[in-house]
Amino acid sequence: MKAVILAGGSGTRLYPVTITVNKHFLPIYNKPMIYYPLSLVMLLGIKDVLFIVNPQDLESFEKLFGNGSHLGINISYKIQEKPNGLAEGLILADEFIGDDNVCYMLGDNVFFGHDLVKIMKDAKNEIESNGGAYVFGYYVKDPERFGIVEFDENGNVKSIEEKPENPKSNYAVVGMYFYDNEAVKIAKQVKPSDRGELEITSVNEEYLKKGRLKVKLLGRGFAWFDAGTHDSFLEAGEFVATIEKKTGLMIGCIEEIAFNNGWISKDQLLKIAQPLRKTDYGKYLMEIAKQER
Ligand code: DAU
Repeated sequence: MKAVILAGGSGTRLYPVTITVNKHFLPIYNKPMIYYPLSLVMLLGIKDVLFIVNPQDLESFEKLFGNGSHLGINISYKIQEKPNGLAEGLILADEFIGDDNVCYMLGDNVFFGHDLVKIMKDAKNEIESNGGAYVFGYYVKDPERFGIVEFDENGNVKSIEEKPENPKSNYAVVGMYFYDNEAVKIAKQVKPSDRGELEITSVNEEYLKKGRLKVKLLGRGFAWFDAGTHDSFLEAGEFVATIEKKTGLMIGCIEEIAFNNGWISKDQLLKIAQPLRKTDYGKYLMEIAKQER
């Protein structure tokens, strides 16, 4: 399975902050927002990652991640000329995905939960064994902001709608999708919505029509933030700060994950930590490097 992380878009909901800075570089507490989705992909064991980026931000992404070799992974980039919608990312990733399945992540989503990696691995395994699409639902108080999934009395998915005026449920589809190879073909047939975007919800709807959409609810014990508004951005940062201070462990530390996965050596980790040694982030990496693996 390969991973595609969407990091384009206009970020207008975070204006004026994002007039000059792409939102994915903004700090969620102590690291750029984009580290969080990348960390999950790495925790899943996926090494081939494509970032979809705006033309004006390519250089900054390359400065941040390069080709990923310092993390033991392969990172490449594809430019999205205009924010034409989430489903366009699948079309742009066509060549990268090739014949593979894909883990499709939104660059502004932050997740935390005890069983998160296990649940993601289950989704990955399900797609690799049986195909189809696998997405996650999360209870929200403001369903008009999201893709919303409706269930019938037996818990089967009945409908899925993007930002409905009259939401049929409070379950938002979160920004982490697992698809078989059909997704690219489906995305190519999606027509722009009323707001002029190629919606990822239309791709999910197509899988639903074919009876190939699985939705798993993330219940108690999971925290999910779509950090694309001022409030949720702040909430996500406060949450990460609280958990990290309480546990002494970092969320979304990509260098730590690379090291734990055995993708980089102790020396490589120390080389990354050295220039950061005066920061808490650098000190943390130094500590990790000292531990036996
Ligand atoms: O966060 C979950 C929600 O994300 C889902 O419930 C919705 O179904 C889905 O449409 C999406 O809604 P948003 O309105 O929050 O999407 P947003 O415009 O914030 O874009 C999500 C990410 O994708 C963000 O990191 C920017 C990036 N993006 C967005 C667009 C429109 C792109 O890379 N290209 C784009 O064209």
